[in-house]
Amino acid sequence: MAQSARIRSANVELPATTTTVYEAIHNRRMNNDFSDATPTRDALERMLCAAIWAPNHRLTNPWRFFVLEKGGAKRAAVAQLAYDNQYQRNGNLDAARGSRQRVLDAPALIYVYSVPGDSAEMTQENYAAACCAVQNLLLAAVAEGLAGDWSTGNTTRHPQLAATLGGEADWTMVGALFIGQPSRPSASVRAPSNEVTAWLD
Ligand SMILES: Cc1cc2nc3c(=O)[nH]c(=O)nc-3n(C[C@H](O)[C@H](O)[C@H](O)COP(=O)(O)O)c2cc1C
Repeated sequence: MAQSARIRSANVELPATTTTVYEAIHNRRMNNDFSDATPTRDALERMLCAAIWAPNHRLTNPWRFFVLEKGGAKRAAVAQLAYDNQYQRNGNLDAARGSRQRVLDAPALIYVYSVPGDSAEMTQENYAAACCAVQNLLLAAVAEGLAGDWSTGNTTRHPQLAATLGGEADWTMVGALFIGQPSRPSASVRAPSNEVTAWLD
C-alpha cells in the first residue's frame, strides 16, 4: 500500500454529527440483520478515517483494511474461500452455502489485519491497536446510521485469505466487518463495571 505524507491531528476535518460519544458507545451493537441499503463510499471513508486515529504505540500504523465491493470479483473470491473453509471443516453443504452467501450479501464488507512488529511485544501491541481501530470504526458507523458485525469466524479462516486480499502471510487477522443499515434493533448484556473494578486506596 502506498506511503504518503502524514496527516496532522490538528488538520483533521471533523465529520458533522449530532451523535455523542456516549450515544455511539451505548448504541453500538453487533448486528448482522441489514436492510438492502448500501453504505455510501463517503460514509465508509469517514469510518476508516476514524479508525486510523486509534492509539498505536510507536505510531506504527499497524492496521490494514480491505474494502470488498459488493458484486466485485474479490468479494466472490473471498466468498468461495468461506464456502471451502466451512465445507472442509464439517462437510455441511448448507453451512458452506450460508457462509458464502453471508459474504456475498453484506451491504459493505471490510477485512482488517494487523502487521507484525519487530518483537512479540510489538506484534501484540499492533494487534491491540488494530482492535482499537475497529472499535473506532464501529462507533463511527453508529454516527452514520449503520451497524457492524465483527467476525473472526469461518469467513476469516481460510489459509489463502490474506494472499487473496493482497496481504502477507504473517499478518494477524483482526476481523471481518459486515456493515450495513440495521433492519432490526439488537440487544446485549454486560456484567456491571463494579463487578470488574477494584478502587484502590
Ligand atoms: C475480537 C472479536 C471477535 C469477534 N468474533 C465474533 C465472531 O466470530 N462471531 C460473532 O458472532 N461475534 C463475534 N464478535 C462479536 C461479539 O460476539 C459481540 O461483541 C458480543 O456478542 C456482544 O455484542 P455487543 O457488542 O453488541 O454487545 C467478536 C468480537 C470481538 C471483539
